[in-house]
Amino acid sequence: MTLPQAVENAANTAEVLLSAQDLEKSFGAVHAVRGCSFELHAGGIRGLIGPNGSGKSTLVNLLSGLQMPTGGAIKLGDQTITKWSPDRRANSGLVRTFQSARLWGQMSVAENLMVAAPARGRDSLLKTFFMRGRLEEAEAADRERASELLTRFNLWRLRGQRAHELSGGQARLLEFGRIMMSGARIALLDEPLAGVNPVMADQVVDGIETLSASGVTVLLIEHDLPTIRRLCSSVMGMSLGKIVMEGTIDELARTEVFAEAYLGASTRTGGTNV
Ligand SMILES: Nc1ncnc2c1ncn2[C@@H]1O[C@H](COP(=O)(O)OP(=O)(O)OP(=O)(O)O)[C@@H](O)[C@H]1O
Ligand SMILES: [Mg+2]
Repeated sequence: MTLPQAVENAANTAEVLLSAQDLEKSFGAVHAVRGCSFELHAGGIRGLIGPNGSGKSTLVNLLSGLQMPTGGAIKLGDQTITKWSPDRRANSGLVRTFQSARLWGQMSVAENLMVAAPARGRDSLLKTFFMRGRLEEAEAADRERASELLTRFNLWRLRGQRAHELSGGQARLLEFGRIMMSGARIALLDEPLAGVNPVMADQVVDGIETLSASGVTVLLIEHDLPTIRRLCSSVMGMSLGKIVMEGTIDELARTEVFAEAYLGASTRTGGTNV
C-alpha cells in the first residue's frame, strides 16, 4: 500500500467524533446555515473557510449549543446532541472559543487554568467530606498540570496576573491551556488570530499545534490562508450556509467554486494568496 493510500484509509476508518446532518439556521428571512452536513474525524486540525457572512460562526454556534438549529441534527460520536445545552456539550468534551477571548477577567492566569479542570465530584459536600484525601490528591495533580501548561504556553511569569490584563495573544494561549486542562476532545476555534498582535501571531499558531498534538481534534475557522495552509491537512469550504467543498487547501484553491465562494471572483484569477 502506498503512503497516501495508507493515510486515506486511516482517515476513513478514524472515529467520527462530530457530525452534522442537514443543519439549518434562519434568522427571519436570513438563512445563515442551510443544508449543512459534514463529518469530523478524530485527530488533526480541520480548516473551515468561507467569505464573510457565509455562516461559519453560526455553524459553530449551533455545534456548541449557543444557538438552536431550525432544522437538522448534530451528533457527538453516536449520541444525538442537537438539543443539549452548551454546558452539557462542554462536559462531554466539545468546547469552543469566540472571535474575542472569554476568560475569568478578575481571576489570575493560574486560577483560570485551575477552574477549567473537570469537577470530579467537588460539587458534592458529602463526597467532599468522605473523599477529602482523594480530592486533595486530585487538586495536587491539577496544580501540577496547571504549572506544566503555564510553562508550555509561555505564561509562567504571568501566572499571578489578572486575566483581563493579558494581551489578545496571551489571552488566546490561556484559552488553549484551559481547553487542555478541561480534558476536551474537540475544540471549535472561531478566528483565534483575531485581536492578536502580529508579534504574538506565531505563538498563537504554535499554540494551536500544541493543542492538536495533545490529542484535541480542532476545527479552525480562519481567514488567513497561509495559516490554514500551515496547520490544516484538510479544509472545508463554506458558501451561503453550506459546506460546498472539502480537501487540501491546494485542492480547494484549484476549484472555480473556491474563487467564486471564497474570493468573491466570478472566475478564477490565479495568484490566490495561499
Ligand atoms: N443573530 C443574528 N441575527 C440575524 N442575522 C444573523 C445573526 N447572526 C448571524 N446572522 C447573519 O447570518 C449570516 C451568517 O453570519 P455568520 O456570522 O455566521 O458568518 P461568518 O461566516 O462567521 O462571517 P465572518 O467571516 O464575517 O465572521 C450573515 O448574513 C449574518 O448577518
Ligand atoms: Mg464569523
